[in-house]
Amino acid sequence: MAQEDVFKKLVSHCKEYGFVFPSSDIYDGLGAVYDYGQNGVELKNNIKKYWWDSMVLLHENIVGIDSAIFMHPTIWKASGHVDAFNDPLIDNKDSKKRYRADVLIEDQIAKYEEKIHKEVEKARKRFGDAFNEEQFVTTNQRVLDHKAKMDALHERYKRAMEANDLVELRNIIMDEGIVCPISGTKNWTEVRQFNLMFSTEMGSTAEGSMKVYLRPETAQGIFVNFLNVQKTGRMKIPFGIAQIGKAFRNEIVARQFIFRMREFEQMEMQFFVRPGQELEWFKKWKEYRLKWHKALGFGDDHYRFHDHEKLAHYANAATDIEFLMPFGFKEVEGIHSRTDFDLSQHEKFSGKNIKYFDPELNESYTPYVIETSIGVDRMFLSVMSAAYREEQLDNGETRVVLRLPEALAPIKLAVMPLVKKDGLPEKAREIIDKLRFHFNCQYDEKDSIGKRYRRQDAIGTPYCATVDHQTLEDNMVTIRHRDTMQQERVPIDSLDSIIAEKVSITSLLKKLV
Ligand code: GAP
Repeated sequence: MAQEDVFKKLVSHCKEYGFVFPSSDIYDGLGAVYDYGQNGVELKNNIKKYWWDSMVLLHENIVGIDSAIFMHPTIWKASGHVDAFNDPLIDNKDSKKRYRADVLIEDQIAKYEEKIHKEVEKARKRFGDAFNEEQFVTTNQRVLDHKAKMDALHERYKRAMEANDLVELRNIIMDEGIVCPISGTKNWTEVRQFNLMFSTEMGSTAEGSMKVYLRPETAQGIFVNFLNVQKTGRMKIPFGIAQIGKAFRNEIVARQFIFRMREFEQMEMQFFVRPGQELEWFKKWKEYRLKWHKALGFGDDHYRFHDHEKLAHYANAATDIEFLMPFGFKEVEGIHSRTDFDLSQHEKFSGKNIKYFDPELNESYTPYVIETSIGVDRMFLSVMSAAYREEQLDNGETRVVLRLPEALAPIKLAVMPLVKKDGLPEKAREIIDKLRFHFNCQYDEKDSIGKRYRRQDAIGTPYCATVDHQTLEDNMVTIRHRDTMQQERVPIDSLDSIIAEKVSITSLLKKLV
């Protein structure tokens, strides 16, 4: 099945099974805003717990905070977001649709890539086992032509972005003959800068009101609390502050479901270190964060680093962890060595001393910062897309199953009475009443057992326990495993020990130490 179709199916699966709904659904939705349903919120909470515990529980020198979404507007001046948090946008005069100029050009680069890919696949079919891909891509004239055009475009685009040259971005769009996907025309406006921050007014009177922003990242809440936490927590460098919270960006091009949203959630950790030691820590955090991702067991080939060639003016190293989504490798997390930029800027704009006194060195300095920043929603999408499978069974049927890591699954155990009578429902509820303190259980009595298994597969429940008439006599149930579909008869009293450890976040955390 084409990856595009897999993605479409995943999106409808998310809605059908209570993971993700479009926001304001009965009003036909709100662009790039989504709600999480009954299963989605459990999965999301588990992802957040895995991240939080891996930071705060496993590191003595990392503590958490929860700062407000509204912050003093000068913070965004100091951080550079008021002046420089922009996307270059362009409008098509015929369709009246707005696009990000950089995205239009990146899509054009991807088209060349796709053309090369098609040539390779055609040749692979033609030559069969004798096909030598490396030789083909370095000698085939059509491939070489596409590659030359792609490289030239990439180079021109990179230069325009680096120079912030909006006229050149438009020239590239015109020269490449890029058309609006809606109107099919090249009737483009100039390219303009568009600030991504949402703003609103705080205060009731016209004179007394103040323009405030909905934070576009959670990081600044950590920087402005650096001294509060350091002093009250008696923290010694190196140490980190972690935070999970909502962020808002008025994205121009909002697409690919929950990949690019206008309201989303971030899990960010700022790690404060001695100046000069930041690149060593950057390396350590890169490794640790990749380990965190890989511990989920989706396969090491699903991840790659994308080191930034062009660095933001305040960074001296930066990389993305990319995940293989149905639409290619995409950024899920950023790891940045942000130097002392943020703390120094806040010192300058607030007029307060934000230095740290290092008792070992007997001197004060502005700490350097390594940031790890991951989007909860992107992480959610990566987990869902890696877990979603349509499987052909031996009996000719197909099943849709979410092969979620057990610790992340919304429901851990479904308990099912074989029939709705003869005391079996009561026995099933008795089991749930005992186990619900340990993990998330669901009672399910509707439809045939086969249908119930399918329903639980579709939401990724790792275990189902069936209560039958024999259960009333021997106090044993049939437990069915999601991935192998194997069934075994086990005593009710052993359910907790069979399931609890495997479904707990601890099982993932143990892989990190
Ligand atoms: N404090 C650094 C920072 O915010 P970023 O690369 O802009 O860096 C970090 O964002 C992460 O936040 C991204 O890797 C992504 O996972 C997530 N993210 C950013 N914009 C997003 C959006 N519009 N929708 C969903 N997630 C987003």
